[in-house]
Amino acid sequence: MSAPRSWLFVPADSNRKMMKALASEADAIIFDLEDSVAPSQKSTARDLLGLLPDRRDGQPQRWVRINPLGTDAHNEDLDALDDFDLDGVVLPKTESGADVATLAGALAPRCLPIHAIVTETAASLFGLLSYRECGSSLVAMSWGAEDLSAALGASSKLGPDGEIAFTYRLARTLCLAGAAAAEVQPVDGVFADFRDEAGLAAEACAAASEGFTGKLAIHPAQVAPINAAFTPGPQEIDRARAIVDAFAAAPEAGVLSVDGKMVDRPHLTQAQRVLLRAR
Ligand code: COA
Ligand code: MG
Repeated sequence: MSAPRSWLFVPADSNRKMMKALASEADAIIFDLEDSVAPSQKSTARDLLGLLPDRRDGQPQRWVRINPLGTDAHNEDLDALDDFDLDGVVLPKTESGADVATLAGALAPRCLPIHAIVTETAASLFGLLSYRECGSSLVAMSWGAEDLSAALGASSKLGPDGEIAFTYRLARTLCLAGAAAAEVQPVDGVFADFRDEAGLAAEACAAASEGFTGKLAIHPAQVAPINAAFTPGPQEIDRARAIVDAFAAAPEAGVLSVDGKMVDRPHLTQAQRVLLRAR
C-alpha cells in the first residue's frame, strides 16, 4: 500500500457525498465522524458507514476519522468500527505518541494503521517528537490550524499579511519533522478555499518540495491538483535517475558532478525518494 497523495474528507452523515468520494480519484477517503458531523447526526453517520457498498479494485482507500480520545463519541465509534472493512483510522486531537498507542491497544487484536492529526490542541505542540516511540500502527501524521487557533484563543489563523501566521507555520514544521523522525508519512493540512484551484496548487507544490508526500482535501475538486503536486514530473524524474545512475557508476564517490551541478549523498537520498514516489 503506497502512501496516499490525496486524503479526501467526507462527512459520514452524507451518503451522497460518500458515494461521490468513492467514485473520485482520491488515493484515500476519510469518512468523518468528528467535526463535520453534528452530535445529533453521529449515530446516523455510523449506520450509513455500515451500509457502504463492498470495495472494488481501483477505488480509494477507506479510512474513518473517529472522535478524540476521552469522549463518549469516541467509544461509540470504536464499537461501530468492529463492523467495517477499513484501511485505517484517523485519530484527531492527539497530544503525543501515547495517544496513538492507546488507540492501537483499543483496536487490538485488529492491527489497523493509524493516521494521527497532531497539532490541534495547545499541548500537542510540545509532543511532536514522541510519535517515534508509539509503535508500528502509526503510518501518517497531519497538522491542522483551525482547531489549534480555537484552542489558543486566536481570532484568526492568518497574520496581517494574509498569510498563515507564524504559530501555525511552526505547527506545520513540527508536524513535518515529527513525522520524519517517526518515519511515517507527513501529510499537509487542509486548504479551505475550495474554489481557489491556483492557490491550492501552489500550496501543495510548496508542501511537496518541503517534504510532505500528501495533503488533506475537503472537496473532490481538490483531488486532481493534489495528486499532480505529489507526483514527480518528467524533468524531476530524469534528474533523479541521472543522480542515481551517476552514483551507481562511481560507488566509491562521495561527491560528483551531474549536469554541471554538485551532488553528494543527501542528493542521492532525495533522488531515490523521487524515484520511489514516481512508482
Ligand atoms: N466529498 C464528496 N463529495 C463532495 C464533497 C466531499 N468532501 N464536497 C462536496 N461534494 C459534492 C457535493 O455534494 C456536490 O455534489 P452534488 O452536486 O451531486 O450534490 C458537488 O460535490 C459539488 O459540491 P459544491 O456545491 O461545490 O460544495 P458544497 O457547497 O456542496 O459543499 C462543503 C461544500 C465544504 C460543505 C463540502 O465540500 C464538504 O462537506 N467538505 C468536507 C468537509 C469535511 O469533511 N470537513 C472535515 C475536515 S476539515
Ligand atoms: Mg477539527
